[in-house]
Amino acid sequence: MPTLAVYPGSFDPLTNGHVDIITRGARLFDGIVVAIAANAEKAPLFTTEERVEIARAVFKDQPTVEVETFDGLLVDYVARRKADVIVRGLRAVSDFEFEFQMALMNRRLNSKIETVFMMPAEQYTYISSRLIKEVFGLGGRVHGLVPDMVEARLHEKVLAQPTR
Ligand code: PNS
Repeated sequence: MPTLAVYPGSFDPLTNGHVDIITRGARLFDGIVVAIAANAEKAPLFTTEERVEIARAVFKDQPTVEVETFDGLLVDYVARRKADVIVRGLRAVSDFEFEFQMALMNRRLNSKIETVFMMPAEQYTYISSRLIKEVFGLGGRVHGLVPDMVEARLHEKVLAQPTR
């Protein structure tokens, strides 16, 4: 039986750390669905549609990588997709506590679904979407930390902001 994995997250925005995990997941599983949580953040920088468009463009040449949105409980979405595995990235020990809670709660909600943790390449272990937004917003360089398309979209967002 082919193994389908779901890689859920906010992806606001997609970083090269996410890309690294998705690429590793695509090698390990028969298929991987990048599942963008539609209502995870109250005031996201990128709309759900923008986040989907970016992820689809980045993985356009990888037929085993799908991009979708979901809302409601993650385990219900995973069951609807008939997937077997939830993939989450672990960057540092600081990620562990929250990830451990989520994995065990998800297991309690649906014991058939297994959570698998994957580590990104070392050069991405300190990147998070939150830091990218903060650094970029304050004029810092994020080149090499996010896909080129994300960098371009960040520039567009900043240019689109009304001048104060
Ligand atoms: O990228 P993030 O913000 O760390 O992703 C968190 C996400 C979206 C995976 C998590 O908040 C989630 O699964 N939300 C869906 C609602 C749900 O199932 N909550 C219970 C999780 S134990």
